[in-house]
Amino acid sequence: MSLDLEKIRADTPGLATVNHLLASGSALMPKPVIDAMTGHILLEASIGGYEAAADKADDLDAVYGHVATLINAKPCEIALMENATAAWCQAFYALPLKRGDRILTCQAEYAANYVAYLQRAKRDGIIIDVIPNDESGAIDVEAIEDLLTERTALIAITWIPTNGGLVNPAISVGKIANKHGIPYLLDACQAVGQMPVDVREIGCDYMTATGRKFLRGPRGTGFLYIREALIEQTEPAMIDHFAAPWVAAKEYALRPDARRFENWENAYALRAGLGAAVAYANDIGLDKIQKRAWHLADYFRLHITTVNGARLRDAGSNFCAIASFTIDGLDPLTTVATLRKQGINIGASDPNSTLLDAQTRHLPTVLRVAPHYYNTKQEIDALIKALRAMV
Ligand SMILES: Cc1ncc(COP(=O)(O)O)c(C=O)c1O
Repeated sequence: MSLDLEKIRADTPGLATVNHLLASGSALMPKPVIDAMTGHILLEASIGGYEAAADKADDLDAVYGHVATLINAKPCEIALMENATAAWCQAFYALPLKRGDRILTCQAEYAANYVAYLQRAKRDGIIIDVIPNDESGAIDVEAIEDLLTERTALIAITWIPTNGGLVNPAISVGKIANKHGIPYLLDACQAVGQMPVDVREIGCDYMTATGRKFLRGPRGTGFLYIREALIEQTEPAMIDHFAAPWVAAKEYALRPDARRFENWENAYALRAGLGAAVAYANDIGLDKIQKRAWHLADYFRLHITTVNGARLRDAGSNFCAIASFTIDGLDPLTTVATLRKQGINIGASDPNSTLLDAQTRHLPTVLRVAPHYYNTKQEIDALIKALRAMV
């Protein structure tokens, strides 16, 4: 059965006021997400913050189960975080990398991750190796084994980059990482919520994602997945008395689950919103979500070519729900601002967000359109019409 677009659109109040084509930035939240958050805030206001968390303990606990279901993990393998970067940093900075250890990453790596590599290169003396792209612009899987050395201590890649439609071969990379017993950290920030994600199939040891993008959750939410077998041996870079209760004057005991990466204090209303967003996506089905969102992005790619001077900038051969492009003679930031005034939301991605990729492909700031399953072809037609009027 296909998804119930009428209900989905009725569930999405933002659609009444805006033509929102930027799920890769932050998607529109559905009503159950808004209700979960406002409900919790109102409860905190009426009975107290600690009391609200206690009364809603079961629901708040269920968030781990929803996230686990979404990615085929166990609840004990999930830590809820305030964003994807915080989750990624918790995994990365916990790795005991030593001088001379090597990290293998990709051309389309996200800036936040890359600057962390650079910091540990400066501070700890690690070495960064970058997998070349194949002719399509995706990770060249064939090149990986030649780059591995005895000192390769981590493979860390971005699955879907921030700046376009590329889908890197995360499963093939996982097979190589597993074959050589090398830890595998996957940035799935732009993938989670727009397509089915299965951590067992991917074979990743750590995976990170955000709530506000394709998952349709609130801003300020994200999560970390860590494979169960690794939890006990992983000492987070920073801990508090929730992650590691203070059990004797000179002793702490790390929690046995992934929540050893969390802190004591949290935004419970946002967590409630994240839980509702994940449950909403699980209910619709990620296969259906992917089918419609990717189809709409393809529809955009087909029609943008009718705009004078428009050039698609997506790398790879299997495009996702993010489409990137430039239009000769149009400044991207002005274009975004002009469309915004007309009630159309798209975004721009500057070269610094994916510097290696931008340098390799000589990319300027690109425009970014990311329809979600709640969008329609009419909304994309309205965008194309508005762009045509600007050239
Ligand atoms: C590929 C990728 N990774 C990580 C992030 C960071 O996510 P967050 O802003 O939730 O930390 C982004 C955000 O745009 C992203 O596109």
